[in-house]
Amino acid sequence: MKVTVVGAGAVGASCAEYVAIKNFASEVVLLDIKEGYAEGKAMDLMQTASLNGFDTKITGSTNDYSKTAGSDVAVITSGIPRKPGMTREELIGINAGIVKEVAGNLIKHSPDVTLIVVSNPMDTMTYLVHKTTGLLKNKIIGMGGALDSARFKYRLAEALEAPISDVDGMVIGGHSDTGMVPLTRLATRNSVPVSAFLSEERLNQVAEDTKVGGATLTKLLGTSAWYAPGAAVSALVQAIACDQKKIFPCSAFLEGEYGLSDISIGVPAVIGKDGLEKIVEIQLDEAEKAKIQESAEGVKKTNGLLEL
Ligand code: NAI
Repeated sequence: MKVTVVGAGAVGASCAEYVAIKNFASEVVLLDIKEGYAEGKAMDLMQTASLNGFDTKITGSTNDYSKTAGSDVAVITSGIPRKPGMTREELIGINAGIVKEVAGNLIKHSPDVTLIVVSNPMDTMTYLVHKTTGLLKNKIIGMGGALDSARFKYRLAEALEAPISDVDGMVIGGHSDTGMVPLTRLATRNSVPVSAFLSEERLNQVAEDTKVGGATLTKLLGTSAWYAPGAAVSALVQAIACDQKKIFPCSAFLEGEYGLSDISIGVPAVIGKDGLEKIVEIQLDEAEKAKIQESAEGVKKTNGLLEL
């Protein structure tokens, strides 16, 4: 399994590190436009191999896509991250051009690749890749919901005073502060609905804290987060590499599912060797249906800013 990660910045390097440490890939290629940067990150990471006990070979490249040839999975993290006070949507101008060019270069050298889109505004970038590459829809996965769900579980465990491994929950909808739909009704602690333990008011607070999870970190860090994003991407890469058939909410191109069409937005999906193998349609209640519709309107508004 050969994995390419474009963008050797905070999220890309974190992703490469988690992929390597999990030891399921033979090779990771880090690629960046900044001269020597990917080579430096790759060398630094390789010098952790004997300490962390992995055999994955990590190499770096300054914009030479021939090095990425034959990749099974490629992750696109190239672009600019947000600064405190910015929305993800504000990044569209710069990132759209970068993502389009990078996706084209990747496919030229790896026609069978599965792409994982991370750059923000992620749902719109995923839609852009659909509209401009001609890749099959199962081969294009937007990463947002896996991260947002991890943040949801963190907040749930905190409120429940429970270990995170006892908690389950999912966030669907657009990957934005206003677009996320944390499914509090379906969240559980050891199979028991969390409403058995938490008041409606507390659950609403958990949902709100989840939605601004990225913004909270951006304020603390001065730039956007990288550990959890990198871990979330590596979990998707592993699900593909090991054909795990795990369910993650991912930005998927919809053709009628959830009453939505011509949009990429976060919905639960089975991830395995063929990429996004199946969209899972769950029964939403009326309030949840209204929220996902509203979320989709926001994503479509951002999509409207693309020059397709
Ligand atoms: P960063 O600034 O640390 O890294 C971005 C890297 O991309 C830089 O090293 C830069 O040189 C490189 N780059 C820029 N243009 C390029 C090109 N044309 N070709 C190759 N490399 C290029 O940023 P960070 O924090 O790693 O974030 C990356 C992106 O991921 C941002 O757009 C951020 O908003 C997004 N993000 C998305 C998340 C999600 O859940 N979908 C979570 C966290 C970040």
